[in-house]
Amino acid sequence: MNVKTMMVIGAGQMGAGIAQVFAQAGFQVKLNDLSEDALQKGRSGIEKRLSRAVEKERISEGEASATLERLQTTTKLEDSYDCDLVIEAVVENMDVKTNVFQTLDKHAPSHAILASNTSSLPITEIAAVTERPSQVIGMHFMNPVPVMKLVEIIRALQTSDETYEAIETITKQLSKTPVEVNDFPGFVSNRVLMPMINEAIYTVYEGVATPEAVDDVMKLGMNHPMGPLTLADFIGLDTCLYIMEVLHEGFGDSKYRPCPLLRQYVKAGWLGKKSGRGFYQYS
Ligand code: CAA
Ligand code: NAD
Repeated sequence: MNVKTMMVIGAGQMGAGIAQVFAQAGFQVKLNDLSEDALQKGRSGIEKRLSRAVEKERISEGEASATLERLQTTTKLEDSYDCDLVIEAVVENMDVKTNVFQTLDKHAPSHAILASNTSSLPITEIAAVTERPSQVIGMHFMNPVPVMKLVEIIRALQTSDETYEAIETITKQLSKTPVEVNDFPGFVSNRVLMPMINEAIYTVYEGVATPEAVDDVMKLGMNHPMGPLTLADFIGLDTCLYIMEVLHEGFGDSKYRPCPLLRQYVKAGWLGKKSGRGFYQYS
């Protein structure tokens, strides 16, 4: 399959990063969000990262401006009419995602692959709401997208080999490494990572240590690049909570129960770096 034009739905931290790497790899990209404000925020983040790459002599000025020329923004899902691939990166909520997929299914051409960047939700259930389940797949990028090498590719029960192979090829064209996994809650990445983050939050909740001390233990003792609480703030505490809820409900096992402190932070609007406050203050 020859993908020339693609669309990314959601211009938040993941969607903007995904749009950037596709545009840098030479694809025509349409970036979609609900409002012009969100699109502007996403686009200006991409512009900033490209200027930094020019300053550091990683790319030329010509490459940066050609990348931006390949990037359009739109608030209309109807603009997917000429896209060969669409990647959804909206909030981690099944109802919102299935709505987006049903609308896309009406507007994207019949040959188009519809992928989700979901962190944990069942791709099989998302595929089932469309008329093209064999062309639906999970394409799970890691944060920050321009830096991290992994793309976890999740096969739904209905995903065809042709769809899988097309996504594997595109992942390599982005200079990233595909890893194939099957469709179970949290896949592999978040089934392993998120219980560690949740346990780190429990240690703070139970007064075992301060956030700084927990992070120091994992950074200096286990050589993690970021401590788990810094990482939780970086991912977004709302996203962390949604993922723990998917694991808890999906496996029905109390070992995945979200820490009450995580719930409380999300209720307070302390969502981490993106809201200015989480386990740490950002300003
Ligand atoms: N967006 C884009 N680029 C970024 C960035 C961001 N938010 N933050 C840092 N970078 C880039 C920098 O520009 C720099 O690039 P150059 O080398 O080209 O200059 C490079 O990353 C290294 O940055 P720094 O030297 O400033 O910082 P660092 O060495 O501490 O690395 C890091 C930063 C790469 C983010 C590192 O701390 C790290 O690997 N952290 C862990 C990240 C991680 O675990 N991600 C997975 C999260 S889980 C997930 O994504 C799945 C999910 O579903 C929740
Ligand atoms: P975010 O909150 O930064 O961005 C979400 C964006 O989606 C927002 O700009 C919002 O306006 C937009 N949006 C919401 N509903 C929409 C709709 N109906 N149509 C178009 N746009 C809509 O979230 P994020 O961190 O970028 O996460 C997005 C997805 O990626 C989630 O499924 C998340 O689980 C997954 N993910 C997140 C990370 C991470 O580290 N944050 C890593 C991998 C995957």
